[in-house]
Amino acid sequence: MDLAYELIFTVFPYLCLSIFVVGHAYRYITDRYTWNVRSSEFLEKKSLFYGSTLFHWGIVLTFFGHAGGMLVPQRFYDVVGMNSQVHLFVAYWSGLAVGNAAFFGSLLLLWRRIAHKRVQSVTTVNDTITIGGLVVVIGMGLYNVVFGHYNVLYTVAPWIRGIVTFTPNPGLMREVPLSFKLHVISALALLGFSPFSRLVHIWSMPLFYFTRRQIIFRRQSANFPHRVKMKYIEPGREEG
Ligand code: HEM
Repeated sequence: MDLAYELIFTVFPYLCLSIFVVGHAYRYITDRYTWNVRSSEFLEKKSLFYGSTLFHWGIVLTFFGHAGGMLVPQRFYDVVGMNSQVHLFVAYWSGLAVGNAAFFGSLLLLWRRIAHKRVQSVTTVNDTITIGGLVVVIGMGLYNVVFGHYNVLYTVAPWIRGIVTFTPNPGLMREVPLSFKLHVISALALLGFSPFSRLVHIWSMPLFYFTRRQIIFRRQSANFPHRVKMKYIEPGREEG
């Protein structure tokens, strides 16, 4: 039994996280041409818009929720006057909102890949595993929020902190309900799979869009009255 816990809650997490780190670095160095999200927007826009918007807002906020709730020990929240009951209350309602957005968004993305013929024709097994995997991981997380009624602050949270600080304690997971264990294990498996999927696009988030200069296009119809031609003006250059 001890060996099983050691394997599942110490060896397996480090295996997945190692594949995650080394896999991303290896793919970025050796195979940069396939490092993209492979957009299918030109094949179908409407359900992508709703699915992708719901999913991305949900998953990004879920990520911050997990980081804030799990990686920061409860004693820091106690110092600022947020006891564990208030913490769990906030986690429950915010988890419910962002978890629903991520879950129904990912379901819509999966449905779109199955139901739309044109999107289906460019969908690979890898895409199905990626989006299907997200539906499973997020679905189990949402199930735990709604039906779990379990305090993770003194078991799962310190176990995760032990993993990231290289002081693993698999015994902390012993009393944790099965649905929480399955959520953790499937999320780790998806992390290990992500370097081989389109999920690599997360690391190419175009943050410079917020600060870069605008690219301005102006009409230049004087010389070509019969049609409108667009002229590209390099950022920072005045129009001649
Ligand atoms: C953090 C910033 C992120 C940005 C800027 C971003 C951006 C994008 C873009 C532009 C697409 C392409 C949509 C299209 O035209 O087809 C996309 C698709 C996708 N993203 Fe993200 N993403 C981010 C985070 C994430 C995260 C955290 C996940 C999951 C853990 C994720 C999972 C996906 C999936 C599965 C698709 C494919 C949807 C489909 O085509 O069915 N993304 N993302």
